[in-house]
Amino acid sequence: MTVDSLRGKVGVVTGGASGIGRALAEVFAREGAKIVVADLDEPGMDDAVAAIRARGGEALAVRTDVSDLGAVQALADRAFGAFGRVHVLCNNAGVGVWGGLETMTHRDWQWVLGVNLWGVIHGLEAFLPRMIAQREPGHVVNTASMAGLIASKGLGVYNTAKYAVVGLSETLAKDLKPYNIGVSVLCPMGVTTRIEQSDRNRPAALRNETPGKAEPPELMGRYLAPEAVAEMVLGAIRANELYVITHDEGLEPLRRRFERMEQAIRARKS
Ligand SMILES: NC(=O)c1ccc[n+]([C@@H]2O[C@H](COP(=O)([O-])OP(=O)(O)OC[C@H]3O[C@@H](n4cnc5c(N)ncnc54)[C@H](O)[C@@H]3O)[C@@H](O)[C@H]2O)c1
Repeated sequence: MTVDSLRGKVGVVTGGASGIGRALAEVFAREGAKIVVADLDEPGMDDAVAAIRARGGEALAVRTDVSDLGAVQALADRAFGAFGRVHVLCNNAGVGVWGGLETMTHRDWQWVLGVNLWGVIHGLEAFLPRMIAQREPGHVVNTASMAGLIASKGLGVYNTAKYAVVGLSETLAKDLKPYNIGVSVLCPMGVTTRIEQSDRNRPAALRNETPGKAEPPELMGRYLAPEAVAEMVLGAIRANELYVITHDEGLEPLRRRFERMEQAIRARKS
């Protein structure tokens, strides 16, 4: 059984104040779900919640740093406290750093893995036990990236986190099947969001003493609107599809990667 309709369901979206997360929150609310928006950006969350309420929806903002397990547990308490159930969990908050791996600082690793990987793990730790115990169909959406399937020069730290999110999601889909909880992993290429200004929410303690100079790499392919991506996620929840690969442009690099692996196996001498 899948979450085929969001009417009367409850969705939690991390990183819901901006970009893809905000679009997910708005699309789920339009479909009749009650929404919990979790983010560090309080004005952005207030705006997202106000927009949902203005259209007659129900929404709640909870300031949350997803890199902090205690904060995500408090988010789960608030969400279950307010609405009694959680059916759709979107571990979506994410940040980017750019530059060669040889130039990355320990703080770069801590910050990006803290949000992009530990944020997802914390979401699972805090929400899954109660989502399983409620014995209703549910769905987890983890936002990875095409950078979780293809490695790109200058994106190494981000690649590391996103590859991990893809692997985690692939296993999670198998593990959660008996509980009627589906899993989707969102793998977009360019989306018109504020990801290039990720530094705006970087905690002071994890800032580099000398700011990095690398510019965000020019992404291949089209830039999609976050709303278009959110509609694809909605479709994947309804159909219980694991991969949400938003850009056709991803096909060739993926094919080349698997061809290289196939060649490595065929070329082996022993
Ligand atoms: N925009 C793209 O081109 C693109 C492509 C592939 C994947 N993604 C992924 O999509 C997801 C959403 O990013 P976006 O593009 O909408 O960017 P965005 O910057 O517009 O939104 C990200 C949101 O996450 C929040 N956030 C940052 N750190 C946080 C923390 N520690 N705790 C809670 N919230 C935090 C930010 O405040 C912001 O509201 C990310 O996981 C990103 O890696 C984006």
